[in-house]
Amino acid sequence: MSSKSYSIASIPADGIGPEVVEAGITALNALADTLKTFKLEFTNYDWSSETYKKTGKYIPDGGLDSLKQHDAILFGAVGAPDVPDHISLWGLRLAICQPFQQYANVRPTKVFRGTQSPLRNCKTGDLDWVIIRENSEGEYAGQGGRSHTGKPWEVATETAIFSRVGVERIMRFAFEVAQKRPRKLLTVVTKSNAQRNGMVLWDEVAKAVAKDFPDVTVDKMLVDAMTTRMVLKPETIDTIVATNLHADILSDLAAALAGSIGIAPTSNLDPTRQNPSMFEPIHGSAFDITGKGIANPVATFWTAAEMLEWLGEADASKKLLTAVENVCEAGVLTADLGGKANTKEVTNAVVAEIKKLYG
Ligand SMILES: NC(=O)c1ccc[n+]([C@@H]2O[C@H](COP(=O)([O-])OP(=O)(O)OC[C@H]3O[C@@H](n4cnc5c(N)ncnc54)[C@H](O)[C@@H]3O)[C@@H](O)[C@H]2O)c1
Repeated sequence: MSSKSYSIASIPADGIGPEVVEAGITALNALADTLKTFKLEFTNYDWSSETYKKTGKYIPDGGLDSLKQHDAILFGAVGAPDVPDHISLWGLRLAICQPFQQYANVRPTKVFRGTQSPLRNCKTGDLDWVIIRENSEGEYAGQGGRSHTGKPWEVATETAIFSRVGVERIMRFAFEVAQKRPRKLLTVVTKSNAQRNGMVLWDEVAKAVAKDFPDVTVDKMLVDAMTTRMVLKPETIDTIVATNLHADILSDLAAALAGSIGIAPTSNLDPTRQNPSMFEPIHGSAFDITGKGIANPVATFWTAAEMLEWLGEADASKKLLTAVENVCEAGVLTADLGGKANTKEVTNAVVAEIKKLYG
């Protein structure tokens, strides 16, 4: 007996994006068919660097209006060797995130059962973090310009924007996430020693918002010191909030410390729910392994689980992640995690595990 039905837009885009999104949809369909508690309907959008090269646009006219009709977006990766990265990123991913006000980027990381951290002595449970990244302004606000292009006296500016509204909403969101986690511990990452305007506002707003969350323990850390703490004392960290640039970098480090960039998910959330939120693996198009069938689909499975939770299907979300961790624990792993399995073999193993556990 099926109950709720969700309309999902899939945008596989470039490189290994189509390979991992196909794997994600296969696992999600298997879960929906097995549990029978919800339905998913996918609409594919072929927006990619190929589309851009043919039409001059990543997103066709009216594209965002079509996207807005869906409950959520499952995204692969964007980036092609023959398109400058700033064109592809701003043409597709940021062209969705920014108008849809997906201001909260959520990046959980943990060491899965059956996988290994490159850190000596770091076991499953020792590293279990959520990084909250400001996703709408900061260093990636798109402010700046270039003059005297190509001349020896050329100048370029890249201006970081920190608005009180923007900082306050991400702080509130981060405190709420920290409050729901067992340790109720939030680290506010900053660089207010060197960046004495935007980052000082960031710190002040964090301090003010903290008053509304007396049960959350807060500490403040400079971003450079944070990298060493992540490596040397991973067990002292739980929830982290950081700017667009800082969290972008810290979350790749986090993914590597948890074992591989091939397992980490990202949610781009509009917490007001006025627009669909977008879910994607943290990794990019991975040109070096595109088309080889060896991309790790686990990041997309975890992404799919995050999407289910956001849609209100928390039980299905947990069940999907349990099946994925069981498969990792059974040693069905891609090369980035030290295994020999390919994308299809891992996907088939997850589908079989879903059927075995819940069928
Ligand atoms: N959100 C996005 O769409 C996004 C994110 C990051 C990079 N990019 C774009 O992707 C392109 C390549 O960027 P990059 O090389 O810096 O980062 P990348 O994440 O694509 O690859 C970095 C390394 O990690 C490996 N890797 C990544 N995902 C993997 C997976 N699922 N399984 C196994 N190995 C995996 C790659 O093979 C590569 O060696 C660029 O055009 C960049 O702009 C896009």
